[in-house]
Amino acid sequence: MHETDPHFEALLVYLKESRGFDFTGYKRSSLMRRVNRRMTQVDAAGYPEYLDFLQVHPDEFTALFNTILINVTAFFRDTDAWEYLRAEVLEPMIEAKPADSMIRIWSAGCASGQEAYTLAMVLAEMLGIEQFKDRVKIYATDVDEEQLNEARQASYGEREIQDLEPELVERYFEQLNGRYTFRKDLRRSVIFGRNDLVQDAPISRIDLLTCRNTLMYFNAETQAKILGRFHFALAETGVLFLGKAEMLLSHSSLFTPIDLKRRVFRRVPRLYAPPGVVFADPPPTGTGGVTGLDELRNEAFAASPLAQLVLTSDGLVACSNRQLEKLFGVSSRDIGRPFRDLDLSYRPVELRRYIEQTQLERRTLRVTDVEYHRGTDVVHLMVQISPLSGADGSLLGVNLIFHDVTASRRLQDDLEHANQQLEAAYEELQSTNEELETTNEELQSTVEELETTNEELQSTNEELETMNEELQSTNDELQSINDQLRVSTSRLDEANAFLETVLTSLQAGVAVVDPDLRIRMWNRHAEDLWGLRSGEVIGQHFLNLDIGLPIDRIRPLVRGALDAGGRSGEIRLDAVNRRGRAITVRVACTPLRSRDGGPGGGDGAIIVMETA
Ligand SMILES: C[S@@+](CC[C@H](N)C(=O)[O-])C[C@H]1O[C@@H](n2cnc3c(N)ncnc32)[C@H](O)[C@@H]1O
Repeated sequence: MHETDPHFEALLVYLKESRGFDFTGYKRSSLMRRVNRRMTQVDAAGYPEYLDFLQVHPDEFTALFNTILINVTAFFRDTDAWEYLRAEVLEPMIEAKPADSMIRIWSAGCASGQEAYTLAMVLAEMLGIEQFKDRVKIYATDVDEEQLNEARQASYGEREIQDLEPELVERYFEQLNGRYTFRKDLRRSVIFGRNDLVQDAPISRIDLLTCRNTLMYFNAETQAKILGRFHFALAETGVLFLGKAEMLLSHSSLFTPIDLKRRVFRRVPRLYAPPGVVFADPPPTGTGGVTGLDELRNEAFAASPLAQLVLTSDGLVACSNRQLEKLFGVSSRDIGRPFRDLDLSYRPVELRRYIEQTQLERRTLRVTDVEYHRGTDVVHLMVQISPLSGADGSLLGVNLIFHDVTASRRLQDDLEHANQQLEAAYEELQSTNEELETTNEELQSTVEELETTNEELQSTNEELETMNEELQSTNDELQSINDQLRVSTSRLDEANAFLETVLTSLQAGVAVVDPDLRIRMWNRHAEDLWGLRSGEVIGQHFLNLDIGLPIDRIRPLVRGALDAGGRSGEIRLDAVNRRGRAITVRVACTPLRSRDGGPGGGDGAIIVMETA
């Protein structure tokens, strides 16, 4: 037994209040195991954290309920029990019913419907299709809406029908795309609905109620409550069919076993009282010539270990023995007194009406389970009340024997207790087994998912490898282009340096302009001559230069070099150098031509300025 954990109980109250699911009557051991599984999956450290998680993630309720409401099921689950039910319960039940009367069946806790359709197949086989459609109603209920939806579809896969006899599959299922769907015309006789066994009202006038592998999830108190409802639900001679691990019912006064092994029970009418056992009349006595028999008989009677009292036919105390005196204080002093005046007539049990009944019916009655408190001791008694008849059959009196059954009662209690523990352990085992089956299925599907993911990863990996190879070769190509560029750049640098040296070595100012007259080159000598550094003039329009040279005068010269004809020319000019001294400058202008360029000044012009 698990101790109750207040945080866990608070979680159950929350589930009840927020979603109407009352799990408080479920066995704690299994329930806690299932909730703990969900907690591990969502990384909740304890019940309070899980409660917080549920408040923030409403989707978690569905996952939790799916985990708690174990829904393992199968067609003809426990085949042997179904065969027994058919032959020993349903056959006689149908025979005893008027030919046109309805047969009402309730499959409570039907999960995904296999049990309900099993019932439909069994009855259709017995009654024939037409009678089945006319007479049978199967109500199939569960608390789990998702399961009910599956059940309503009536469509099953290869795996679910694999243990069904092929003839039944042939007769009752339509096959399409690998799915097997239960016949629509018979499906109409099966009505699915949501019913919470803990909270909802039962269906009534039921002939056969199957509630298999569902009760075992509830604690004894809730089981008893549900059994009360089942008793109400069943018709007078209705039958209850439980799962093979469900045993506690054997203690219920509401049902009596028809076959305990197969867990088939009949409803007991409410006002049931166990019938009395009729004993044979005592053999006639005689003396056989022996003397002193009366005294011997009296002594034998007085010394009997059983407390005994004999009454006359008109209710007076005739004889009592020592054991009776020890037990109830009734002694020989009470002989001749009316029995009804003695406390014993109504304490510890009302005996007068049994005595009247014995006299009337002339048969022995037994009153069982009589509890008698003697000081601090409790004595359990069974009182046997028998009529005493004369040889002519007339009633002489009544004999009351008080059997002390305390020891056997105690043994029986111990036995029952041990039995209950055994049954509870068996139920626990069965529910653990079902949990394991579910877990196994879940693991199976996780393994399948992992296999798929693995395959996907494998192919992604291969793609990555190919991409990697392509990148490598692109990289190699880029590297070689880069190398070429580096070589070209260094050649260019060399050429530039060489050009720079040539220009610097010239004893004349040199300016190179592009076709738009923007200055591209300005050598050291030009800097010295006009006082402008190369950095200041590169990119400037040559004709806008503000230097001591009369630019306007050389404009035609430069234009001539740039024109289509590309003429070279020369001019002498008076100018002022950077120091402000008057100088004479010879300016020569030549078109700039690339090596493969045609005639004309398309590429610019070279202007050489030399002090004359
Ligand atoms: C293990 S299955 C049994 C299915 C089927 N009767 C069989 O024996 O194969 C138990 C079913 O009981 C249902 N159940 C659990 N608590 C319930 C409740 N309070 N009321 C109705 N059904 C409940 C679950 O949803 C689940 O479908």
